[in-house]
Amino acid sequence: MSQIHCRIVGTGSYLPGEPVGNDQLIARHQLESSDQWIAERTGIRFRHLADDGVSASGLAFEAASRAIAAAGCTAADIDLIIVATSTPDYVFPSTAALLQDKLGIRNGGAAFDVQAVCSGFIYALTIAEKFIRSGSNKRALVVGAEVFSRILDWSDRGTCVLFGDGAGAVILEAADAAGILATAVHADGSYNQILSVPGQVGGGEVIGRPFLQMDGQAVFKFAVKVLADVAREVLSAGNIAAEEIDWLIPHQANIRILQSTAKKLGIPPEKVIVTVERHGNTSAASIPLALDEGVRSGRIKRGDTLLLEGVGGGFTWGAALLKL
Ligand code: UT7
Repeated sequence: MSQIHCRIVGTGSYLPGEPVGNDQLIARHQLESSDQWIAERTGIRFRHLADDGVSASGLAFEAASRAIAAAGCTAADIDLIIVATSTPDYVFPSTAALLQDKLGIRNGGAAFDVQAVCSGFIYALTIAEKFIRSGSNKRALVVGAEVFSRILDWSDRGTCVLFGDGAGAVILEAADAAGILATAVHADGSYNQILSVPGQVGGGEVIGRPFLQMDGQAVFKFAVKVLADVAREVLSAGNIAAEEIDWLIPHQANIRILQSTAKKLGIPPEKVIVTVERHGNTSAASIPLALDEGVRSGRIKRGDTLLLEGVGGGFTWGAALLKL
């Protein structure tokens, strides 16, 4: 029997509301900061912030609908939904189950969430690929969706300026030829303290601090160290040289992390998709958002070789190498 491969056949994304500029955010929350500090240290100038009542499943629905339309299929054709999110609608049911309901799928295939913070989309893509390649599923919807604004402490200038809300989605299908060439995911839970939201629901209350806290410099150092390594791991597994990469699509955390990883890999800046300036860090949504922007702007074309990489709380990190 010939091997089953897996490829992306459609992408979609969604950003809520109007872009909020650095100066606007600073004024809104009376932060001791400046547009210049934020732009120079992070590359961020704008982010989108969801209105009250807008949920991760709502953002996921918009992105998923666009990906389904781009793939030329219908929601009923989807037999697997994986949503990567750290800002789910509820403790349970999963955001994926709520998304499945919003899409009108009844008696469908598996739907579940993946929690790997900013590496969540790479984790979800890796899992979906394995379901499809095993032959158990034919068409997967993989989404990264976040309302990170809900877990930000607006009095902490060191974190609240960095993040934004949004969602990105892809449709993956079984195929005769690859597709996804290689994936790699890793974690080291001993770094759980340097980026966390250490709150939980118990006894009808929130216990602990339900806001994002981060040791920015420790995260920065960790990210720069692991991203190039995991990118090389998938390049080697897929037998592709860095020079053959048409587009590097990194998790959009900080322009300096993006640039430093690209440089280490020998990938020139003009081959890197950068959205951090306009989106901020949208955690699990950032890679599929950047992918969709690249596709819809006409820069990323069918047949291109793409390298996706990300790192996030946990700590978790991963990369995916694919032909579109
Ligand atoms: O998805 C992964 C998520 N996280 C990341 O990728 C973040 C990785 N880390 C970073 O991007 C950077 O570490 C930051 C952008 C968060 C911070 O940049 P930095 O160059 O590491 O700054 P720092 O933390 O060393 O802070 C330098 C100074 C401090 O003031 P003092 O102690 O020198 O007086 C901070 O209090 O900058 C201050 N500062 C700010 N000043 C103006 C921190 N945030 C701000 C701000 N505006 N928003």
